Amino acid sequence: MGLSIVILAAGQGTRMRSDLPKVLQPLASKPLLAHVLACSRALAADDICVVYGHGAEAVLAAFDDDSLRWALQAEQLGTGHALQQAMPGTPDDNRVLVLFGDVPLLEPATLTRLLDETPQDDVAVLTVDMDDPTGYGRVIREGNSVSCIVEEKDAGIDEKAVREINTGVMLCSAGRLKNWLDNLSNDNAQGEYYLTDIIAMAVNDKVNVHGIKADSWVEVMGINDKRQLAEAERALQARRVGELMDEGVGFADPARVDIRGTLKCGKDVFIDVNAVFEGDVELGDGTTIEANNVIRDSKLGAGTVVHPNCHLDGAVTGDNCEIGPFARMRPGAELDDRVKIGNFVEIKNSRVADGSKVNHLAYIGDADMGSGVNVGAGTITCNYDGAYKHRTTIGDGAFIGSNVNLVAPVEIGGGAYVGSGSTITKTAPGDQLTVARARQVTIEGWKKPTKKGAK
Ligand code: UD1
Ligand code: CA
Repeated sequence: MGLSIVILAAGQGTRMRSDLPKVLQPLASKPLLAHVLACSRALAADDICVVYGHGAEAVLAAFDDDSLRWALQAEQLGTGHALQQAMPGTPDDNRVLVLFGDVPLLEPATLTRLLDETPQDDVAVLTVDMDDPTGYGRVIREGNSVSCIVEEKDAGIDEKAVREINTGVMLCSAGRLKNWLDNLSNDNAQGEYYLTDIIAMAVNDKVNVHGIKADSWVEVMGINDKRQLAEAERALQARRVGELMDEGVGFADPARVDIRGTLKCGKDVFIDVNAVFEGDVELGDGTTIEANNVIRDSKLGAGTVVHPNCHLDGAVTGDNCEIGPFARMRPGAELDDRVKIGNFVEIKNSRVADGSKVNHLAYIGDADMGSGVNVGAGTITCNYDGAYKHRTTIGDGAFIGSNVNLVAPVEIGGGAYVGSGSTITKTAPGDQLTVARARQVTIEGWKKPTKKGAK
């Protein structure tokens, strides 16, 4: 028996009160549906089919992926009707694992357990006990097996008191599903074709229905509104931070960090409060990320320290560098070892070699800087002529005074000194002092300006 996964993702998500379709709402900066897909891909299914409908164009555009099958549910008439749209093209003897596009925290291990524990000819629903089951379908049991699922809006007082709920995850053979789905009715409180009604049909046809419980409700929470979205975000962050702490990463406060992509850490990494990691970030052994840093798609070498309030995007550093406070590193910023980038310094598309220092108020763009260079406060590369970008080359051991404009393309030789306030437009030769600024003069007989009529 093969396995087909069907993800129901056609609903509008009215309760989100948003123009963005629900399954595109971001969780850890990826659409809800992307999380469900990642979990699905971990299961080695023969076929993954997404049922889409509301916001069809936007959903398709967000997932340009040839390995998926897409089934359109043009009108959203309920979860049962949604699943029906995926059945043509699903082989009868495959097992179908139904997932919801709005249940994003599911883990593959739980689904593997469901697949392993359910005999091939039986039906299974993944359930969970909730302190507050409001809004969910209730799982009604008879002895050990499940007899039906009653939606909140159709439930009586006794049924509402049941705390075991339907997570939406269901497992059933395609052949049987097709038959039951064809017989659904929408005679219920919401006038929808409920997928959950197939449970009573299965019981009626003497098919065993297993209610398999998930370990925690967090993993199976359905996201219907912004409160639940925010709750899921914190839960996902807690899971990611927890895994990193298990690997030995230190956090000042596990609740005040956000990992929105992948974060790989070496040994003895410490992360202070309000650090946000986006895309793929790697932190080498012994790195320290101080408070209030946003770090995206960057790789930091061992022992590097990022002081508070920096923004790093596409930066690469060697070992034992110091960055910030208040520094900005943009794509293509590459530091060798022991480089210091201080406050209010921006580095873009530039390589800075070993031990160089750019400590205050500087812009280094499109530059190749040697080792042991010292760049003074207020110095900038004038890398853009309005049409093209040009490079600046600075040799090893050069000393650039404060407030220097390096008008690219230009070269500063190794060991060169450049006087403060210079605007350098031509090569500054190595090991010599170059000064390019107006000579200081004091004007003889100068008079203070006065207002007319003033004495
Ligand atoms: C559903 C279940 C409920 C369960 C809860 C778990 C039904 C009838 N109810 O309720 O038992 O406790 O999920 O979170 O199944 N969808 C479509 N097309 C539709 C309607 C929905 O694709 O016509 C998709 C939605 O995009 C969503 C999923 O199905 O991803 C669930 O739909 P939703 O309307 O959120 O169902 P709930 O009311 O939460
Ligand atoms: Ca839901």
